[in-house]
Amino acid sequence: MSNTPIGIFDSGIGGLTIVKSIQKYLPNESIIYFGDTAHLPYGDKSPELIQKYAANITYFLAQQKVKLIIVACNTASAVALEIVEKIAGGTPVLNVIDPAVQTALQHTLNYRIGVIGTKTTIQSRIYPIKIREQHPEAYVTTKATPLLVPMIEEGWANSRISNEIIQAYLSETTFETIDTLILGCTHYPLIKESIVRYFENKVNVIDSADSVAKEAQKLLTQRNMLADPQQTPVHTFYVSDLTDSFQQTTQIFLDVPVVLQQRRWIENPTTSQSE
Ligand code: DGL
Repeated sequence: MSNTPIGIFDSGIGGLTIVKSIQKYLPNESIIYFGDTAHLPYGDKSPELIQKYAANITYFLAQQKVKLIIVACNTASAVALEIVEKIAGGTPVLNVIDPAVQTALQHTLNYRIGVIGTKTTIQSRIYPIKIREQHPEAYVTTKATPLLVPMIEEGWANSRISNEIIQAYLSETTFETIDTLILGCTHYPLIKESIVRYFENKVNVIDSADSVAKEAQKLLTQRNMLADPQQTPVHTFYVSDLTDSFQQTTQIFLDVPVVLQQRRWIENPTTSQSE
């Protein structure tokens, strides 16, 4: 057993969807969350810059002696996983892409899979690459859907506006034959129901938050690292820039109130020296 916390990081507040799923599947675990609000959005930044930010955050989490690091951000999972794993040392690292790909492959019957995410995630081609590694014949259609993140943060999930934007993005003919859609972004679990309705319940909609939480449960169980069921979990939520707006946005993602704490930007000595 291990009562040390799980470290979870994201570009901002959206990664709280992962926290919510972790709390559902692993209610005894303590969490240290880091939202890089000073640098968001990651979704249209270059891989090099995201790698630098992710390296610094991993360095910080490793210093906190977390037992597992979850890269909650799809964009960071797409372009910065290698550097995160390197800096994490022996600490296990989970990303949000592999569990979602596995879940999609378990559900699809026709191997026609859609993926939506940020521009950087989609441009990385990580989803088609990972899906075809396991099923070379799969047809994978992807689309960057950048309006969805600000729309959800504005509190417009599951509204007339969001239905129209979803329709504008997903009405392309390439999505007509898919039987499975991966929601490749932290924010999209909040519009899952609308997307399921858009496809009239005929498409499996895969949510990376639940997929990674189940994977974390499996990993900690296998390694005998689950928290003591008697322990009261302690959660800490750091952000690199704290504003009222970020604080209020937490309510969109988590039902229970959380208090964000400002954590000034940390430079990993190994990355800052090499600049
Ligand atoms: N967290 C990002 C992701 O999951 C979405 C928000 C951003 O662009 O920073 O890809």
